[in-house]
Amino acid sequence: MRLDKFLCDALGATRKEATKIIKSGDVSVNGAVVKSGSTKVSDDCLVEWQGREIAKQGPRYIMLYKPEGFVCSHEDGFNHTAFVLLDEVKMENLHFAGRLDVDTTGLVLITDDGKWSHRITSPKHKCSKVYRVWLADPVQPEYVEQFSKGIELKNEKEPTLPAELVIVDEQENEVLLTIQEGKYHQVKRMFAALGNKVEHLHREQIGTLSLDENLQPGEYRYLTQEEVDSF
Ligand code: URA
Repeated sequence: MRLDKFLCDALGATRKEATKIIKSGDVSVNGAVVKSGSTKVSDDCLVEWQGREIAKQGPRYIMLYKPEGFVCSHEDGFNHTAFVLLDEVKMENLHFAGRLDVDTTGLVLITDDGKWSHRITSPKHKCSKVYRVWLADPVQPEYVEQFSKGIELKNEKEPTLPAELVIVDEQENEVLLTIQEGKYHQVKRMFAALGNKVEHLHREQIGTLSLDENLQPGEYRYLTQEEVDSF
């Protein structure tokens, strides 16, 4: 494909705009600045604009390290949406494959592929999520069994699915919890049902995909094909 056509598709730019962007010298292909729109690019080319990789035409799959204070929705009117952390075009096409509360940190997946996100969020698929939880009060040893049997939540007919609780640090009231559902405020409500309170919540893993330890809060990267296919 021609570079100018590639930019039109990827950035939603007109051919005239794409030509201007290329002429400005901000576009590189495989590390070399390219100033001609007729340059041919193939699927395995790395195309960058101002040093940032431009997603090829087609679905985008993003992992974001969500910091505190950002909401996982397009509009909130009060808090910042986590979308402001992305330097992406056609933002309106993106959605969160599972949300985190405003005060929860960690791994969120963002995509424009609805079928893919359904595999992560649909209860039918029982995709596991691992949370590191810091509690206000000491962790009781009986929690492990209570979580494994399912917890009765307020205003829910059915108990939660069996969940795995691992006590990480008793002094710090720190545990790892693996759940396979995504009910509203689920983790906080599970601990509230046992008379405890979540002080801080951090999502470390979704399915087999862990938050990249090279990412700082607020940073993101694209998933590899292997990571995309893991769901
Ligand atoms: N459970 C919660 O209570 N909050 C989150 O952000 C995620 C899971």
